[in-house]
Amino acid sequence: MSTPLRLVKGRAAVVQPRLNLSDKAANLSQREDVVVVCKNNLEFMRSLGRGSMKLIVTSPPYNLGKIYETKQSLDDYYDEQSKTIKEAVRLLHPQGSICWQVGNYVDDGEVYPLDIMLYPLFKGAGLKLRNRIIWSFGHGLHCQKRFSGRYETILWFTKGDDYTFNLDEVRVESKYPNKKHFKGPNKGKLSGNPLGKNPSDVWEMPNVKANHVEKTNHPCQFPVGLVKRLVLALTNIGDAVLDPYIGVGSSAIAAIITKRKAYGCDNVPEYIQIAQERIDQLYAGTLRVRPMNKPVFEPPPKQSE
Ligand SMILES: C[S@@+](CC[C@H](N)C(=O)[O-])C[C@H]1O[C@@H](n2cnc3c(N)ncnc32)[C@H](O)[C@@H]1O
Repeated sequence: MSTPLRLVKGRAAVVQPRLNLSDKAANLSQREDVVVVCKNNLEFMRSLGRGSMKLIVTSPPYNLGKIYETKQSLDDYYDEQSKTIKEAVRLLHPQGSICWQVGNYVDDGEVYPLDIMLYPLFKGAGLKLRNRIIWSFGHGLHCQKRFSGRYETILWFTKGDDYTFNLDEVRVESKYPNKKHFKGPNKGKLSGNPLGKNPSDVWEMPNVKANHVEKTNHPCQFPVGLVKRLVLALTNIGDAVLDPYIGVGSSAIAAIITKRKAYGCDNVPEYIQIAQERIDQLYAGTLRVRPMNKPVFEPPPKQSE
């Protein structure tokens, strides 16, 4: 049995499995390593081994002057990102993936798409883009002088051509699951995959605002379901998943739920504290997580008068 490891504020601590674990949680705690650290990401990443991470999935700051960041020039932001990305590439397993989830940097009403800006850093490091996933959500700021932004992107890169991709793990229900071939040798047989269809590169999931069950004090969490789909598709049980900007631990939760090893850091102690509380709740079976494939609520059409 491997004991979950946790690092707090730079100190290493071996955390014994809690005594009040439910059976389900106990099974998880016996299998999973969890390393969550309050540290600057470069320092943490440099302590990890080359090629050790099967998936590096993260959402960095967007340089918007949020409470956890200092707005800087775009050049300085780019330089900082390039150092973190370089370190991520060093840590990436030969069959592994990097998923960089970003939105736009906005200055004086002008929009700078961060994925377009950062793409050359990954490409220049020899990675290959496999998908530019559109994550669309229904809510956000209402703009007056441009269309309101309702999506962000995830750039999914692999290190090589031989990469892990478990499509069957993330299939979603087909629109017409009982549709059959109507002619030819397969006439009468189901025409679609009985396991469901490919979820495509457009993902509609609510962002973590207001009444979302996962909402914490963090202003910019991503939903656990978003990361879970990536973890299931791009890693196998027991693989290591790293989030170098882990915030309140959403990536670690997705990794633990799917029986992967979770690594992550954030430089704000309050967020790491919340991450630890959420992980404890997960092991205790009390953490609320929105199901990965739960459809977005559509209000019924208005009755015409
Ligand atoms: C967009 S948020 C990520 C939130 C995360 N995905 C979640 O679900 O909670 C970016 C995070 O990066 C952290 N951060 C910014 N610069 C950092 C650095 N140099 N090292 C570690 N963490 C950093 C911030 O504190 C913030 O929590």
